[in-house]
Amino acid sequence: MSKQRVLTGITTTGTPHLGNYVGAIRPAIAASKAEDVDAYFFLADYHALIKCHDPEMVRKSTKEIAATWLALGLDTDKTTFYRQSDVPEIMELSWILTCLTAKGLMNRAHAYKAAVQENEEKGEDADNGIMMGLFSYPILMAADILMFNGHKIPVGKDQIQHVEMARDIAQKFNHVFAADTFVLPEAVVSDEVAVLSGLDGRKMSKSYNNAIPLFLPEKKMQKHINKIKTNLLEPGEPKDIQDSTVFEIWKAFATPEQSVYMQGQYEQGIAWGQAKKELGALINTELGEARERYEALLATPNYIEEQLQKGAEKARKQAQPLLKIVRDAVGISAITG
Ligand code: TRP
Repeated sequence: MSKQRVLTGITTTGTPHLGNYVGAIRPAIAASKAEDVDAYFFLADYHALIKCHDPEMVRKSTKEIAATWLALGLDTDKTTFYRQSDVPEIMELSWILTCLTAKGLMNRAHAYKAAVQENEEKGEDADNGIMMGLFSYPILMAADILMFNGHKIPVGKDQIQHVEMARDIAQKFNHVFAADTFVLPEAVVSDEVAVLSGLDGRKMSKSYNNAIPLFLPEKKMQKHINKIKTNLLEPGEPKDIQDSTVFEIWKAFATPEQSVYMQGQYEQGIAWGQAKKELGALINTELGEARERYEALLATPNYIEEQLQKGAEKARKQAQPLLKIVRDAVGISAITG
């Protein structure tokens, strides 16, 4: 049976929140359990440096994200779970790919274009404050993907373009140097998983400062939930599930029956305070045990590190032979004959 290679990276800036869990972590861990899937999940710590120059933040986030995936039941024997910086082959490949990627392709990358536009709107020089890391970031992402010949790349919508660029770069290499060196990756954007709204009703995101952290102690979690924006309808007045962040988050954690139940409660005019209390309890049912494991993991960092080292060893075993092929193809090899 040929397995599907699913690969995705998580940039290590920030603490995982409910939106990350529902939109990325939960579906990724579920998918990794399938027999025909060979999953590669990694902490993209070199990507973190693109937007974050706070070393303590990168370190803290790396630890928290690793602990989160482990606490949620990622099987580190079945999957390959590693930290990007522990696999130096990725950086070597990144340079080789940099040498055959057109600058014009990078000029078109959304993240770079958005930064340029922001400068222009402020009347600044177009490249003001823009680092080369941001500019060439799709190349590092291509190296992440191509190094392991990932087929399916689960990402958010904002990352589709980067996966397409990885595909272009792979094609270019195969064409210029050696056919079939790299598998052509495909972005997978699931319509089934929910994109959660945050406290203010906009998409939950750490950059909007409206996120609910994933592993908060129960009382603190409830306090956050209580801050979710609602309308001013009083208890007893029927409420609409459309455009209700409380209902949206409820649905992401509920069984279909529980969603029908809550819809009924809305129709009967449940008080917002009560709906939020029930939401807190529902979330706690799904995450309570994982939260205990998470706290235990944070208290035993050596165990987390061991897991990552085990992953890096597996990853490098895969990466080394492919990097050798790539280096040979471009003319970097031992002198012979
Ligand atoms: N750039 C991605 C993000 O910000 C994270 C990432 C880095 C990634 N390397 C990757 C995702 C490789 C998929 C494949 O979300």
